[in-house]
Amino acid sequence: MKEQLNDLVKRASEEAKKITNESEYLNIKSKYLGKKSELNTYMSNIKNMNSDDKKLYGPLFNKLKKEFDNLFTKYYEESLNKNEIITFDPTLPVKEVDGSLHPVTIVARDVTNILKKMGFMVLDGPEMESEYFNFEALNIPATHPARDMQDTYWLDNGLLLRTHTSPVQARAMQKYGAPIKMCVPGRCFRNEDLDASHENTFFQLEGMVIDENISISNILYVMKGMLREVFKQDIEVRLRPGFFPFVEPGFELDCSCTICGGKGCPTCKDTGWIELCPCGMIHPNVFEESGIDSKVYSGFAFGLGLTRLAMMKYKINDIRYLNSSDLRHLSQFNIR
Ligand code: DAH
Repeated sequence: MKEQLNDLVKRASEEAKKITNESEYLNIKSKYLGKKSELNTYMSNIKNMNSDDKKLYGPLFNKLKKEFDNLFTKYYEESLNKNEIITFDPTLPVKEVDGSLHPVTIVARDVTNILKKMGFMVLDGPEMESEYFNFEALNIPATHPARDMQDTYWLDNGLLLRTHTSPVQARAMQKYGAPIKMCVPGRCFRNEDLDASHENTFFQLEGMVIDENISISNILYVMKGMLREVFKQDIEVRLRPGFFPFVEPGFELDCSCTICGGKGCPTCKDTGWIELCPCGMIHPNVFEESGIDSKVYSGFAFGLGLTRLAMMKYKINDIRYLNSSDLRHLSQFNIR
């Protein structure tokens, strides 16, 4: 009997080493521990043994059972770890998944990647913002009529939902000082009535460059370079005067209509131009408020409407599709 058991242990140990997957583990368990297993046959024979043998083999069988079980589990677990190393290959292409990136995400990534190549940092700021950063630090005091242009959601805790990404201008100046090149893609909120071109939740991308000797030609250079990359074609731009309290002079930057190439069409209302991005030279009050010497430094800032850009790029004619959960619409932009 002892020899038979020794032989059994030997075979089981050898076979256990060969376990490489779950089905082999289950097979070996059934072979050595199952009802029809050798060990089980020996165990059912125990009733025919004399009492000395019973005392000897009873506990021995039970001990073997436990040992086999532990042994098989140990090798099975080891095989799992090995498999993980062997089967996980990070260089394989990603499996197709259902769905796609949101159009605004795609455009935001495009633009930030282009700006990163130009040396811009990508920053983030809180969506729940203070009145100070959203307005005051940007030269919009409490009584300023510009506050009415941005219908604001005020919160019970005294904060507000940021109406634009511009507060991060002041946050970045106070944190990093000058010189600086940064951009901020982010969600903004305004208490708007919804229609095809107005949403209460939309995305902007703020950009800001501060250094010595920054001028309007730097705005034009950066914007042209960025738009050329986004639309994969040369885009004409023009500046018109525009008023924003935190820039002086302030502009509306228009780009040549990407639909008709500037000839005139319904999208550009026959003008050949599309209003794309307000911008301007940073106001000295904004510099001083955030501790930057406006006699040494100058800078420009822009607030690109990312939602607008996504609509232009993908020819989406109703802004409400973008925040709807209608995947039939959103999943057409199958770009990752
Ligand atoms: N924050 C402004 C808005 O949402 C847009 C803007 C205008 C941003 C001029 C700028 C800027 O950086 O220079 O209405």
